[in-house]
Amino acid sequence: MSKKIFSGVQPTGNLHLGNYLGAIKNFVDLNNDDENECIFCVVDLHAITTKQDKEQLRNNIRETAATFIASGIDPSKSIIFNQSKVHAHSEGSWMLSCMAPMGWLNRMTQFKEKAGKDKEKASVGLYIYPILMASDILLYDATHVPVGEDQKQHLELTRDIAQKFNKDFNCADFLKVPEPLIKKDFSRIMSLKDGLKKMSKSDPSDLSRINLTDTKDEITNKIKKAKTDSFPISNEKNKLKDRPEAENLLGIYSSISNQTLDKTLEEFDGKNFSDLKSQLAEILSSKISPISDEIKKLINEHKYLDELLEQGASKAEEIAGKKINEMKKIIGF
Ligand code: AMP
Ligand code: TRP
Repeated sequence: MSKKIFSGVQPTGNLHLGNYLGAIKNFVDLNNDDENECIFCVVDLHAITTKQDKEQLRNNIRETAATFIASGIDPSKSIIFNQSKVHAHSEGSWMLSCMAPMGWLNRMTQFKEKAGKDKEKASVGLYIYPILMASDILLYDATHVPVGEDQKQHLELTRDIAQKFNKDFNCADFLKVPEPLIKKDFSRIMSLKDGLKKMSKSDPSDLSRINLTDTKDEITNKIKKAKTDSFPISNEKNKLKDRPEAENLLGIYSSISNQTLDKTLEEFDGKNFSDLKSQLAEILSSKISPISDEIKKLINEHKYLDELLEQGASKAEEIAGKKINEMKKIIGF
């Protein structure tokens, strides 16, 4: 069955292995299936929910688009654009925010994590961020949304918002209720320094993540310095529960090698972390450094990237513009 795929990545710099294994690698697989219609959005309006430097934001928008292409997304088979170019996203977000109850938003754990202790100082934008995300998805009648595990709750909210809108305005099936596409395994890649913390762009320690722009030497060094424990690797899966760092490294190895955790455990049963680390560094270098080289080449091609985003935006505008007009009519404007 053909799927309408929509997903977004924030242009907030430091795209890393978690973004790749949790999301972008799936974008590539979905895009390779000619049956699917794919839209990949650089969600720059989401990025400004936290303070951004103007020049850096502009570079990060290009770099995110470059990362999509360098990872293997074929721009001739998909729409790649940045969100701020298509007015409908903001308009949709406003209309949806007028019917989404605050109680639903108050449950969002990402806001609680990002706002931290001083939530009075967090921006209103950060609070209503999931509604903008719902608008992104619903404007394109997306059927499937590939994301990492951390976005699951936002997708559930999107589904609830779609259903409430259809009910409130008596327009059954107008907003399509999308399915999340979250990998069953390895959908949450953890920090190399702390197996209980998500690998993240904003971790102050660069050693906590493999950036998609890292060189072979940097990758090898980071894997070498990754936290482990002092026991040998065992093939018993249930014993991994209390060994988050071991579980993470074995998970990364499995995911990048496209094999099950059971197969990886068999491969490394009884071995030491030094064996796992040297093989992991090797496979990561062979898969990530070609992407890194390509990003570094593309990032200087401003004209190519700007034109690509411009063309993507005009295609996106056609789809989202129509939907937002229908939405306005339904509301009574
Ligand atoms: P963001 O960089 O927050 O815009 O995230 C872009 C995509 O990467 C989303 O689908 C996230 O769920 C996914 N993602 C981010 N960090 C991780 C991680 N540590 N493990 C797996 N997926 C992730
Ligand atoms: N909130 C997502 C993240 O931080 C990014 C995002 C914005 C998104 N709009 C989206 C993802 C629409 C999927 C679909 O990762």
